[in-house]
Amino acid sequence: MSNILVTGGTGYIGSHTAIELIKAGHEVLIIDDLSNSTIESLDRIEKLSGKRPIFEQFKLRDSAKVDDFFEEYDIDAIIHFAAYKAVGESVAHPMMYYKNNLVSLANVVDAMTTSKVKNIVFSSSATVYGQPDVLPATEETPVVPAESPYGNTKQIGEQMLIDQTIATENFNAIALRYFNPIGAHESGENGELPTGTPNNLMPFITQTAIGLRDELKIFGDDYNTPDGTAVRDYIHVVDIAKAHVKAIERMIGGKSESQFEIFNLGTGKGFSVKEVIDSFEKTTGEKLNYSVAPRRGGDVEQIYASTDKANKVLGWKAELSLDEMTLSAWKWEKYLASKK
Ligand code: UFG
Repeated sequence: MSNILVTGGTGYIGSHTAIELIKAGHEVLIIDDLSNSTIESLDRIEKLSGKRPIFEQFKLRDSAKVDDFFEEYDIDAIIHFAAYKAVGESVAHPMMYYKNNLVSLANVVDAMTTSKVKNIVFSSSATVYGQPDVLPATEETPVVPAESPYGNTKQIGEQMLIDQTIATENFNAIALRYFNPIGAHESGENGELPTGTPNNLMPFITQTAIGLRDELKIFGDDYNTPDGTAVRDYIHVVDIAKAHVKAIERMIGGKSESQFEIFNLGTGKGFSVKEVIDSFEKTTGEKLNYSVAPRRGGDVEQIYASTDKANKVLGWKAELSLDEMTLSAWKWEKYLASKK
């Protein structure tokens, strides 16, 4: 049993990870400013895991508060989710993204150094690969200049951790590069809670089906893909959560092969926008209202992960299917509607 600080632990991926950590026997402490989540997330974590995490609400940009927290609690390792994540918003407000995402990380790493906490898992993104020439994308696929300030904060965040491993003996970091996390807890009682109009495909689908949005727009059907719509590696959020437990236990167990390690988190399979819609309609029996619109700026045509390294080295494999992703996302949307 270890004490794991989960920053951003009331958010979408953070809350699912908190549940899996508790189920694996760990103690979870959460810091979140609730800027993109609500306090009810703690109730959901408690209900689905059997234990309520320790929780404090503050901004990680406040270094004094971060230092106080590290002084108050015994922490064995950190999973750092807390960050802004809307690509379009980051283009409109770049400094908001650099200040929030990078200053927060710097404060956490500083506090780790002072408190001699050695291990951190960092939420990174497949966005660092842009549109690779060769698919699937492996961890060696070249990182390309970021398309957005958001993507840049992920690249700089990884570099900050590399620099810290060089500066500090025994400091270990694992960057997990997520492909497209979707879906919800199998109970349908925990999932993504987008504020405002969703940017991402899955919440837009479920909100359209439940009547909150009129119509889903498919951004482009003239890509060079089998059905013309863009291809992504969608991965169930609970599989992503379980990968974090593996990464944390790897570091705490002293099994890291180098101070900085990278793993892709995907299924290794690409699905088109149209295939996601088909899966949703098939598993839920709902008819989705959609039409084709022009391509969205900044979108790549297709990307999916090589999962070899995560499978062999991390000992983790995504288990849940696209149908399980779309059905669980729908259960969650219906659960939210039932609470209104
Ligand atoms: N899409 C639509 N209609 C919508 C929303 C999305 O057709 O209303 C399409 C997009 O054009 C894209 C696919 O659905 O082809 C997936 O789009 P998402 O916005 O769900 O996901 P992205 O692949 O654009 O972005 C995600 C994360 C980013 C991350 C990126 C890395 O949201 O944070 O993956 O690849 F940077």
